[in-house]
Parts: sequence; C-alpha cells; structure tokens
Amino acid sequence: MDLVIRNAALADGRHGIDIAIAGERIAAVGPRLAVQGAREIDAAGNLASPPFVDAHFHMDATLSYGLPRVNESGTLLEGIALWGELKPQLAQEALVERAMQYCDWAVARGLLAIRTHVDICDDRLLAVEALLEVKRRVAPWIDLQLVAFPQDGLLRSPSAFDNLKRAIAMGVDVVGGIPHFERTMAQGAESVRLLCEFAAEQGLMVDMHCDETDDPLSRHIETLACETQRLGLQGRVAGSHLTSMHSMDNYYVSKLLPLIAESGVAAIANPLINITLQGRHDTYPKRRGMTRVPELLAAGVPVAFGHDCVMDPWYGLGSGDMLEVAHMGLHVAQMTGQAAMRQCFMAVTETPARILGLQGYGLEPGCNADLVLLDAGGPVEAIRLRAARRLVLRRGQVVSEAPPARATLHLPGRPRNVDFRLTRKE
Ligand code: FE2
Repeated sequence: MDLVIRNAALADGRHGIDIAIAGERIAAVGPRLAVQGAREIDAAGNLASPPFVDAHFHMDATLSYGLPRVNESGTLLEGIALWGELKPQLAQEALVERAMQYCDWAVARGLLAIRTHVDICDDRLLAVEALLEVKRRVAPWIDLQLVAFPQDGLLRSPSAFDNLKRAIAMGVDVVGGIPHFERTMAQGAESVRLLCEFAAEQGLMVDMHCDETDDPLSRHIETLACETQRLGLQGRVAGSHLTSMHSMDNYYVSKLLPLIAESGVAAIANPLINITLQGRHDTYPKRRGMTRVPELLAAGVPVAFGHDCVMDPWYGLGSGDMLEVAHMGLHVAQMTGQAAMRQCFMAVTETPARILGLQGYGLEPGCNADLVLLDAGGPVEAIRLRAARRLVLRRGQVVSEAPPARATLHLPGRPRNVDFRLTRKE
C-alpha cells in the first residue's frame, strides 16, 4: 500500500478504522488492516471523511468584495444591482485570479467539489470563458461543475436563452434558471418549462435558483417538480434556495412536499445567505428565510447546504468553510437532535456529492482516495469546532496540511494546553 491511515473515526459512527490507499484509489477499509503502507499516518481516533462538497456557489463573483463599491444596505436586490455595475468592468484575467485564490482556500478547507453558477447574461460570456479556464486548471484537485445561470432572467433579458445555449455548447455542465426574478408568475413558470425541456433534449442536469424570496405565493418549485416528472428528469434536478417555502401556508406545503419527493427533485439551502438576505422587509418578528429543511428531509427529499457567496456583492464574509455552513444550517433549522446534527454533516458531504453526480466519491474500497482528516472525534464535534483540516488527500496525494487548534495557557494549577474537546476524568 502507498498509504495507510490508522485508527480513524468515520462519519457513520465506526471507530478504530484503518484506510489503505493504493495509487489513486482506496484499497481497503476496516479495523486493524493487516497491510503495510509505504507511509502510515496515525489518525489518533480523529474523523476521516470524504471531502466537503459545495452544491451551490457563485465563483464568478467571489472575492470581489468592495468592487466597485460595497453593498451598503446588505440586501439581495442591492447585491444584484451591484453585480450589474461590476459586470461590464470584469476582466477575464482578474476573474480567473480571484477564482483561483478561492480554490486555494477551498483545498485548504478540504472542499474538493464545487457546483458554481456562472452568469450568462453578459453577451461576451467572459465569466463563462474564465470559469471554464479555472475548471481546467483546478481539475487535478477540485471537481468544478458549472451551471449556466441567467441572473437577469431568462425571458426578462433578451439574449439570455441564446447565451445560455452558447454557454452549454462551450462546455458548461448544468442548466440554471431564476423563475422568481422574471416579470410575472406566468413568465416564471414559462422559463421553468423552457429550461427543463432544453435540459431534457440535451441530457443535462438542472439546478435553478427557485423562489429566493419571502413571497409565500412564489411557487415555482411546484412547476419545477411537475416539469421534472413530465420530462422524466427525476434525480437530475435541484431547486436552490426555495426560501419562499419558509413563508408558505402550511396546508399548501403539505401538498407540495410529497410532490417534490415524488419528482426526485433535490433541495439546496444556503443557510449563511438565506439567514442574512431574507426577512429584510419584515419588522418584528422577522422571518428567518431558510427553506423547511427538516420537513424536506422527513419527506425523503435530499437536502444539501451550499455556501452560495464568499466576499462578493451579496455577502462580505466566509472563507470556504463548509463546516461553518453546516453550523449555521443546524442553528437556523433547529436541527439539534443527534441524528439531525449528523444530517447537517451529510448536507455538506455525501448528499451534495449525490446531487452533483460525483463518481467514485466516498470512503469505500474502489472509491477515489480523496479524504479529509479532521481535528475532531466525529461529525458533530467537527461542526461544533469548525475543526482544523489536519490533512487533505486528493487521489492519494496530500494537497493540504494544517496544525490542530490549540491554545497554550499560562495559568497556575491549570493544564498547559486546551483543545476545546470535552474531557472528563471518571
Ligand atoms: Fe445563488
């Protein structure tokens, strides 16, 4: 074996597990494997997980914070207006450079697969070209999946559909949309139908920004689920955001949830962004905006958490840390039960891997030797501590290392170090 990781915990609760790696693949997983590694790493009981996966991101806008000015109100609509001001000024080289810097952060965070939307409403398709270039450059260490995203509306922006088709022809992977941003409900529904038909024709996946509003009557997810069934797209479609569900009538949601489940549509919530951008027109009590995550999960709908934004016109914070995303999602959804907290970890690892259709993902023999070794004993502790990524492996090679989070105390009669783990003397 090229590498054996000894005594790891796994996210499914197993402990004392060895992981043997040969070349780019995982060869064996089990307790006390009788194999020898050219290199052996003692995980010391810490969590080994397949890499983090971000199901929803905007890499064309990332790290542009403050360009050409900051978002003074912090609202979604000022963010969209600000992005409109920035778009004509975008230069390909600078965009590539910012995206590459973000990808460095991602690797350091053990985030090795990202689905990013790319705005296709600029007729030059400069961001598409830039992100296709980034995808090519980072391919050895990050799976980057691109979604053709008509930010200004498919029907609202005259050249958007042609641009979207051009972007797909250039190599963009997934069909995007933004039905709630079209001028009328009817045009929103029409955009969903056109985009799903195009995706069915082309054999592509679909991932739409859908109902990213507090308007309880924004019901495009219903059309998306229905079109998915009509066109046989089950398992290939995701609805991103779905924040209007937070504000919908409960009776209507009781009809909607089984429809989404039957249609095989996945849901992608973006907790950091939903909690800050939604509810802005409310006084008190203020709605929290995130979609109904526990109820979707209970209905059998796969739910992933996305980062959405990092230091861009919509959000001035973030650092590519999917544990921070899971931490926020857990709090906003009040998913504090033991099983629910583990589901939040799955929402930034295995669930988005399935939504993206990643091949060879997981810690099983035959899977790609991609993993992250965390400075935590299990998934809940990893979320609590936003644990350091001690080691990040891609195809069997170490691509990032980080020290554990430790503080040295100078207190009489107290321990020398703290590591923020719960230790009890029996
Ligand atoms: Fe988004």
